[in-house]
Amino acid sequence: MKILVLGSGAGGGFPQWNCNCRLCAGQRQGELSARARTQSSIAVSADGESWVLLNASPDIGQQIRSHPQLHPRQGLRDTPIKAVVLMDAQIDHVTGLLGLREGPCIDLYATPCVFEDLTTGLPLLNVLQHYCGTRWHMLPVAGDQVSAEFEIEGFASLRFTALAIPGKAPPYSPHRREQMVGDNIALLIEDRRDGRRLFYSPGLAEVGNQELRWMSNADCLLVDGTFWEEDEMQRAGLSGKTATEMGHLPQSASAVRTGMVDVMRATTARRKVLIHINNSNPILDEGSPQRRVLEAHGIEVSYDGMEITL
Ligand code: MLT
Ligand code: MN
Ligand code: ZN
Repeated sequence: MKILVLGSGAGGGFPQWNCNCRLCAGQRQGELSARARTQSSIAVSADGESWVLLNASPDIGQQIRSHPQLHPRQGLRDTPIKAVVLMDAQIDHVTGLLGLREGPCIDLYATPCVFEDLTTGLPLLNVLQHYCGTRWHMLPVAGDQVSAEFEIEGFASLRFTALAIPGKAPPYSPHRREQMVGDNIALLIEDRRDGRRLFYSPGLAEVGNQELRWMSNADCLLVDGTFWEEDEMQRAGLSGKTATEMGHLPQSASAVRTGMVDVMRATTARRKVLIHINNSNPILDEGSPQRRVLEAHGIEVSYDGMEITL
């Protein structure tokens, strides 16, 4: 299985257009050793020819332009992107669908909650009906059903499992206040040819026993790297919101819970990789002490253009 990191940043990317924090300003001025990052999305392929997009970021145009694997191959209009799977209905994960409107009808895989949000609070799919249209493939993760195995046409060697995970519905969701099964999913993708597994979860609020079991079964983890600390945004004066309020488990442990670093340490995956890095996270600075901590535990920080062959 081939994995292409198209965007490794969280909402806003890095540096964020209007942000003058130490990290964003430092990156702009070249004072930090830190790469710019577009908003979170990856592409997965079994053969390097056809690709499935996991989330569609608002930076999709730039991401496709800078990855030859995703360029048109033959014929006047063409794309190797054959399907899109959404992890949630957040702006940074879905608005790239609009950027695909010039192409063929989009084969879209998502949960009932996400289809609902994208036809009500953020009615992107209604809008797309006037362009390429979308073909809906409902992932039955809702109510009591917390996982669903599915296939994507043209990707017979990959077995996908959608897993309900704790998270948040977006602010514009009609059920923002009552979290529902299917608001946020993680994906487990197994290559049937060699049994290798990827666990992908760019937004993960909490790792309970169930999540830990799924993560322990994976050869590669590509998980929520949004925040280093619970109150990082507050401390930097950027926002009043905590990591918990935004539905992200920080990498550092706090008095009340284990952090993502300890969670990853408890697994045996060969590759342990963070994605969806917010512009407030000190791990963006390659010279930071936080980076040394990650290195000491064999944890990688993904970057735009990173390629992983599992
Ligand atoms: C999040 O995951 O919390 C987002 O990146 C927020 C956003 O897109 O504005
Ligand atoms: Mn996000
Ligand atoms: Zn910033």
